[in-house]
Amino acid sequence: MRMTIITSNPGKVREYQHYFEGLGIETAHLNVPYDEIQSSDLEEVVRKGMDELKSKGISDFIIDDSGLFIDRLEGFPGVWSAYVQKTIGNEGILKLMGGVEERSAVFKCCIGCNMNGKDIIVTGTCNGVILEEERGTEGFGYDPIFSHDGQRSFAEVRTDEKNDFSHRGNAVRLLLAEMEKIL
Ligand code: IMP
Repeated sequence: MRMTIITSNPGKVREYQHYFEGLGIETAHLNVPYDEIQSSDLEEVVRKGMDELKSKGISDFIIDDSGLFIDRLEGFPGVWSAYVQKTIGNEGILKLMGGVEERSAVFKCCIGCNMNGKDIIVTGTCNGVILEEERGTEGFGYDPIFSHDGQRSFAEVRTDEKNDFSHRGNAVRLLLAEMEKIL
């Protein structure tokens, strides 16, 4: 079986390769752009993206839409996480959180998988906190400012360890349970 990971993000490709290759599922990477509609709902973005890719004749693929939701900022950057990362970045988030004591946040990852003509959509989450400063050099995006245990940032853990508790890891475990029902 071969699953095509459709994303422009090499960090995501590395994480998916870790999961699937360990399970004997061959992976390929494709960077095809698809429209990411403006929506307050990750699942709606994924569903629309899947429809567009299928209408282009692509099958047996995975896409995901993720976001960091900070409680004290009423869920910001949430569905705007990609834009916010590109503009104000981690430094900007740390400024917004300057002097704030309540630092809880949740990472969410919604995966859309098309396999054997069927669609599966699952969402995994990971609760944590926004750190006071950037830490670590692994990973990508918000990893240096997010910690699942209040101590190490996601950028201070190896990819295989991050997969054990991350939003994407939790989403993949839900996905595999659904895939087993189809295979
Ligand atoms: P998207 O799912 O590619 O739209 O991701 C939204 C934003 O969240 C991007 O800026 C990503 O870099 C960031 N992001 C997604 N997943 C992760 C992660 O596992 N760690 C850190 N940042 C992430």
